[in-house]
Formats: sequence, C-alpha cells, structure tokens
Amino acid sequence: MKKGLKHLIYHLIVAVMPLLSSNVFSFEPLSTPDPDDIEFPDDEAHSQAEVNLGRTLFFDTRLSLNKTQSCATCHNPDLGFSDGMETSIGAMGNRVGRNAPHLYNLAWNILQFWDGRASSLEEQALGPIEAAGEMNMPLSELIPRLDSVSYYKETFTKVYGRSGVSKENLGRAIAAFERTLISDNAPFDQYLAGNKSAMSPSAIRGMNLFEDKAGCVECHDGANFTDNSFHNIGVKGGDLGRGPIVNDSTLNKTFKTPGLRNITLSAPYMHDGSEKNLESVVRFYNRGGDDKNGIDALIKPLELSEQEINDLVAFMGALLDPVFVVRPKLP
Ligand code: HEC
Ligand code: HEC
Repeated sequence: MKKGLKHLIYHLIVAVMPLLSSNVFSFEPLSTPDPDDIEFPDDEAHSQAEVNLGRTLFFDTRLSLNKTQSCATCHNPDLGFSDGMETSIGAMGNRVGRNAPHLYNLAWNILQFWDGRASSLEEQALGPIEAAGEMNMPLSELIPRLDSVSYYKETFTKVYGRSGVSKENLGRAIAAFERTLISDNAPFDQYLAGNKSAMSPSAIRGMNLFEDKAGCVECHDGANFTDNSFHNIGVKGGDLGRGPIVNDSTLNKTFKTPGLRNITLSAPYMHDGSEKNLESVVRFYNRGGDDKNGIDALIKPLELSEQEINDLVAFMGALLDPVFVVRPKLP
C-alpha cells in the first residue's frame, strides 16, 4: 500500500480507537513490527549523523545540572534501558516516584510516560532534563553549556543548519537516537516467520495462554504488545496515573499498557516497580490483581496451574532480542 494512504488509515484508526470500548474493538493480532510503519517527523528517516549526535547526548552527563546523570543512568542499555530499581533516583538523590520504563520500539509509541502525558519523543526528551526531580537542568543553561563544546556546536550545525544548538534540535536528536532502539527478531518473530523450533514447547503453550485463557492479548496486542491505551489492573498505591492528566477521575489509577519486547531485561515491573520478576507479575494477574477498586473488567482470577504460570513466563522470555548500543566517546 502507498505510504501516504497507509498513514491516513493509521491516523483514522488511532482517532476512533478511544471512542470504542475494548469489547467492541477487538485486539490486533500479535506480529512483528514493520519499520515502514514508523512515522518520522517530516516523513523522513533520520540521518546517521543525527542518530549519532542523539546517542552522544543520551550518554552525556552534561545534561544534568550537577553533571552526575545522563539519560542512560536511568535507561541503562545493560539493564534493558531501565535502572533495575523499583523507582528511579534523580540527580539530587531524591526518589522520582515511578519506575523507569524500557525504551524499546518507542518509534511506534503513540503516547509517552506511564500516564501518557507527552505525545512525541521530541517533546518527551526535554521533560526529564528540566524536571527538578530528575536531571534538574534548566534548558536556558543547558543550551549555552552544550554550545561551548566544539563537538556539539559543529555537529548540531552540520545536522540542523543555522539553528545549531537549540532546545528543539536537542529534542530532535535524542528522539532520532531513540527511534533506532528497535527489537524485531526475537525467537517469537522467528517462530512467526515459520521457524517452528525457534520457541520451546513451553513458550508455545505460553503464547496460546497469552492469546486465549489468560487474556493478556486483550491489552498487550499488536507488534509491540501494547494497545497504547490506559487500564487500571489493580496495582496497589496512591498514584492516580492518567486521571489527573486528562482531568477525568474515571481514569484514576489507569496506566499505559507497557510494551513487552525484551521485557525479561527490565525488572522490576509496573509503574511503581512493585513486582520483582515476571513470575510474580503472572501471579499478580492469576489472583486477579490486588486493589479491586475501579479495576478493569478484563482483570479476573485466571486459575492458572503452576505449569501454565511457567509457560507464560517462558513466552515472555521468547520476546528477547536485545539491542546493543556502542557507548560513544564523550566530547
Ligand atoms: C532520574 C532517572 C531518569 C533520567 C535521568 C531520565 N529518565 Fe526517562 N524516565 C524515567 C522515569 C521514572 C520515567 C517514567 C516517568 C513517568 O511515566 O511519569 C521515564 C520515562 C521516559 C520515557 C517514556 C517511555 C514510555 O514508554 O512511555 C522516555 C522516552 C524517556 N524516559 C527518555 C528519557 C531521556 C531521553 C532522558 C534523557 C534526556 C531520560 N529519559 C532521563 C527516569 C529517568
Ligand atoms: C486490562 C489490560 C491488561 C491485561 C488484560 C493484561 N495487562 Fe499487563 N499491563 C497492563 C497495564 C496497564 C500495565 C501497567 C500497570 C501499572 O504499572 O500499574 C501492565 C503491566 C504488565 C507488565 C509489566 C511491564 C513493565 O514494563 O513493567 C507485564 C510483564 C505484563 N503486564 C504482562 C501481562 C500478562 C502476562 C498478562 C496476562 C496474564 C497481562 N499483562 C494482562 C495491562 C494489561
């Protein structure tokens, strides 16, 4: 199909999706992500020079006021682009209050953050830099700081022309790097492509449970195992999630369905890091969640056997296709 038409249809679907309740609009089949579906700003793929610039920025601690933190501190490639902690710690030593999500396949993400408060990756990237609880770095100070480094001054100008080092270009470069964190060749994808021995028998049973008895696919669907929507699955605690963002109390305690590719790498899990491993996540679903107040109708006790719990964990393990990032030499 022509790319323009495909995008139009995609936008129409995204526009009507929230109007339909989940039992009217059934889920997307699980599949392998298609790089042709990535929506680049200005409809153009990023140049390698732009990606390299973004990668350098991602690892540079100059982005935090006291030069102690880079994006990679909390989104560490060796920890599934997360930080291994229940909730992150900011540059000033304070708790951030939420778990650092992995960054795989964000190129297809529609809304960013657990509560979906940012839409584009460009917009998202500037948030943690300025947030007092995170990198605590006013952009009005960061721009001159970067501009005084000859590598940045030259490279920004080479990539973006006369606008050089600016707030917008900073967001663009980091987003360009993030769009390259693509995982699309897991054992599951090889299995879908016809290699029936790519997944273990246990993982295959787990896939069937995921799509049927356990109902996981009702929310974790499509190529990235997310419906890009918000649900209250009954995690305990006072975080109101999506509700306050859209000023709609019926959405209190709903959070964005996280994508599950490479999910074995980024423990602990949930917006508050309350589940320490994938087995405990499956046990959480098996008992029908913890806080039943306002819980999504799709979350009910599942009556899975021990074998079935192991099979679901094995299936999530078959979504593993790590992304290796060469750490840049910092200027
Ligand atoms: C102090 C730790 C910390 C630092 C530093 C940090 N992040 Fe995050 N990041 C988080 C946490 C925690 C969240 C979830 C916050 C929320 O949802 O409210 C998050 C969310 C995100 C998301 C949303 C992902 C999704 O699936 O919705 C992206 C993208 C992201 N960060 C990129 C970055 C970039 C780029 C930088 C550097 C400019 C950065 N982060 C710096 C902790 C951090
Ligand atoms: C009603 C929608 C829904 C269903 C059904 C569902 N999930 Fe989730 N899942 C979510 C949401 C929303 C979150 C994040 C919740 C939070 O942090 O409070 C989540 C979180 C997760 C996480 C943690 C990911 C991370 O990065 O922290 C895993 C793993 C997971 N689900 C697997 C499953 C499995 C396995 C099943 C089936 C047994 C399932 N989910 C069923 C919506 C759903």
